[in-house]
Amino acid sequence: MSVPDDLRPHRKVERPQTPDHAYADADVLLGQLRAHDPVTGEHVSRVACLAMEIALIQGVPVERIPMIEVGARLHDIGKLGIPDEILKKPSALDASEWAVIRRHPLLGGDLLATIPSLAPAAETVAAHHERWDGAGYPHQLAGTDIPLDARIFAVADSIDAMHADRPYRRGMSWSVVRAELGSGAGAQWDPALCDLLLGRFDRIMALDLGCPPSHRALRVTE
Ligand SMILES: [Fe+2]
Repeated sequence: MSVPDDLRPHRKVERPQTPDHAYADADVLLGQLRAHDPVTGEHVSRVACLAMEIALIQGVPVERIPMIEVGARLHDIGKLGIPDEILKKPSALDASEWAVIRRHPLLGGDLLATIPSLAPAAETVAAHHERWDGAGYPHQLAGTDIPLDARIFAVADSIDAMHADRPYRRGMSWSVVRAELGSGAGAQWDPALCDLLLGRFDRIMALDLGCPPSHRALRVTE
């Protein structure tokens, strides 16, 4: 006996996991992030440019680049869950406030895990503040236990944090950023990745960090 359609259990609609869906879903979240925190909104676009370039220097297959771009753009999406009075506090944070800020990788990973098109980036977003020496957070992963994409995000995030101008200071010059990467390799960042990057640092310096990330990826993979 056939079951009438209106008596069937609710069927979940499965969507294809294409980058197009990921880009569209990421844009919705990024719109919220930009409205909530414009400074972070600009930062994540530059980090996406850097992460794609670093991934290409590392030899990551081109077909993985779109999800790296999406993950990098969303790496700080967990900041949507951090209260304004802490996220935008103009003075120094105390220890309990830092503990709240440090929840953002897991908040971001948990959020992405609920969205099918973005779920492949959940683990790397959750791990973007881990350090090669195991002194990062949230899980104190070390070395190659940290997913490669998260190691790439960590370097890209740090390069932008050092190089971008802030309201209260000028960004570091490329030569200082380069020296910092050399001294932090093997402690904060993956040493093999830093070696490769320092050997092709001309490609990082040549990036137009204001460019739309997808345009950049197309140009470098031509
Ligand atoms: Fe972060």
